[in-house]
Amino acid sequence: MKLGCCYYPEHWPETQWADDARRMAEMGLSLVRIGEFAWSRIEPEPGRFEWGWLDRAVETLHAAGLDVILGTPTATPPKWLVDSMPDMVAIDEQGHPRGFGSRRHYCFSHTGYRAESQRITRALAERYGKHPAIAMWQTDNEYGCHDTVLAFSGAAAARFREWLEARYGTVDALNAAWGNVFWSMEYRGFDEIDPPNLTVTEANPAHWLDYRRFASDEVASFNLEQVEILREHSAAPITHNFMGFFTEFDHHAVGREIDIASWDSYPLGFLEQFWFSEDEKRDYLRQGHPDIAAFHHDLYRGCANGRWGVMEQQPGPVNWARFNPAPLPGMVRLWTLEAMAHGAEFLSYFRWRQAPFAQEQMHAGLLRPDSSEAEAASEAREAAQAIERIGEQKTAAASAALVFSYEAAWVCGIQPQGRSFRYLELVYEWYSALRRQGLDVDIVSPDAALDFYRMVLVPTLPIAPSAFADKLADFGGASLIGPRSGSKTESFTIPPGLPPGDLRPILPLTVTRVESLRDGVQESGDGWTISRWIEDIESDLEPEFALPGGRGVVFRNDGIRYCAAWPDRSLLDRLVTAMATEAGVETVALPEGLRIRRTATHLFAFNYSASPVRFDLTGEVIDPGGVSITALEG
Ligand code: GAL
Repeated sequence: MKLGCCYYPEHWPETQWADDARRMAEMGLSLVRIGEFAWSRIEPEPGRFEWGWLDRAVETLHAAGLDVILGTPTATPPKWLVDSMPDMVAIDEQGHPRGFGSRRHYCFSHTGYRAESQRITRALAERYGKHPAIAMWQTDNEYGCHDTVLAFSGAAAARFREWLEARYGTVDALNAAWGNVFWSMEYRGFDEIDPPNLTVTEANPAHWLDYRRFASDEVASFNLEQVEILREHSAAPITHNFMGFFTEFDHHAVGREIDIASWDSYPLGFLEQFWFSEDEKRDYLRQGHPDIAAFHHDLYRGCANGRWGVMEQQPGPVNWARFNPAPLPGMVRLWTLEAMAHGAEFLSYFRWRQAPFAQEQMHAGLLRPDSSEAEAASEAREAAQAIERIGEQKTAAASAALVFSYEAAWVCGIQPQGRSFRYLELVYEWYSALRRQGLDVDIVSPDAALDFYRMVLVPTLPIAPSAFADKLADFGGASLIGPRSGSKTESFTIPPGLPPGDLRPILPLTVTRVESLRDGVQESGDGWTISRWIEDIESDLEPEFALPGGRGVVFRNDGIRYCAAWPDRSLLDRLVTAMATEAGVETVALPEGLRIRRTATHLFAFNYSASPVRFDLTGEVIDPGGVSITALEG
């Protein structure tokens, strides 16, 4: 695994570059990502390119032995470009234009902007496509950041209509599929259809789902336009840096078109900003919850044929969460080695030096604004030495697969039915349950082959095609399917014959009613509880777990289980251990805060808790923020 950093030569005097490059190499870094926001310096005026500085920056870094990841600068269209076509800006759901003065102000559907994106990409590709320093390309930056996937512009409306026509052929077919007879929503032509925002009350969920599918396709095709140009001019692999806990577009679709998936890892910011409990936010304040980084490593490893890396690694306090604590000593090193254990090809710290100006002046770097070393610098150095010592690692085959679907996230978001039914949280809970038992996990798309695994978990898959049921029927191991699976058709209707629809051949049961429970309400079984969601099930199967009074919660049809509620951790732990036993997979019940991951040759253990923890498998006591690495025998 290579280490690197994100660097902005345009932020610093040129006289400083050579020294920066030398210090990077000295720290053990060999990769540097540049350029992704530099459009106004590359092309200060329409058609006038200033390549000199970028040429010299690339040369300077290369001369110090560093490889360059070059970003296309399309996340930051310059002022002159926006002024030349003011309707290129994204329009938000409330209908407001998203102004110039920060970033990501473009609309994915604007054909004029797409032409500009291709033009600047081609200019960069022609100039640097064969340059020996360029080891990788990054398209754009964090598609969708700052809530920019769904756009409600005229350009988006026009392309949405074309997309619908291609999908349905006739407007009658669309009316029937969406159920537009309801509330007199029928259309006479595709040209009458608008995006689903600004309606009086909720728009038709089928309308929303298609709008989300369309918007996701827009991101993928925008990306592909850049990818095709880069490939014409360069053999270097192409990546895009995805975000954390982000489901607004189908990352599997974008991942299919790039060579290496990468993601931006900010565990402390994510802990603060997402659903974690107050206790977890306190206990893991300076470490991040122990599954946050691993969850994304395992998710993005499944996006681009197994190749992935971390493009931005938190090195200290960030600037964008509600509260921004500093990592516990050791955490930057731990996060780095954990990425290695999960199979990363590279990890790059964000950023080299903290900027004293503009929006991110409170965001730490490896260096402070005065160029002295920040706390993370010595940990990056130590991580580089450890990586050198351990040598190359190959990923071990995971025993468990967790099925992740972006479409499932959209369906749950469009029609939550209970406001605490949150897709990402459900998936994360199921993932954590596997990790608490020391299992190695692959997070895979619903299309992935499952034959290599012994256990398969499907937290929920509301739209579950019969091919998916066939695949699970053929799967020989233990599987667990969660609530709401099979509860909707492709066009967002209740399936004929009721849920679980096309899953009925493997799940001989019928969901006759569902209820969602308000926060704080739970139903207790024998040593476990359910909350948030519970279904009424009719079936000849005897429930494996039931509430007092007999209401079934978990049903089992040979190796396939259905969980008809939102299970708590203890029910999940029981299910995971039972499945592992049936599938012949060894589990290790880990103490709070400890997590493990195996490579083909080593066992890594990570202590996320703020106190020392004993790791029974090796007998070691691991310090807070500590990592233990043991060579596996045989
Ligand atoms: C990322 C982004 C970077 C920087 C960073 C700060 O979302 O890609 O450009 O803003 O956050 O944490």
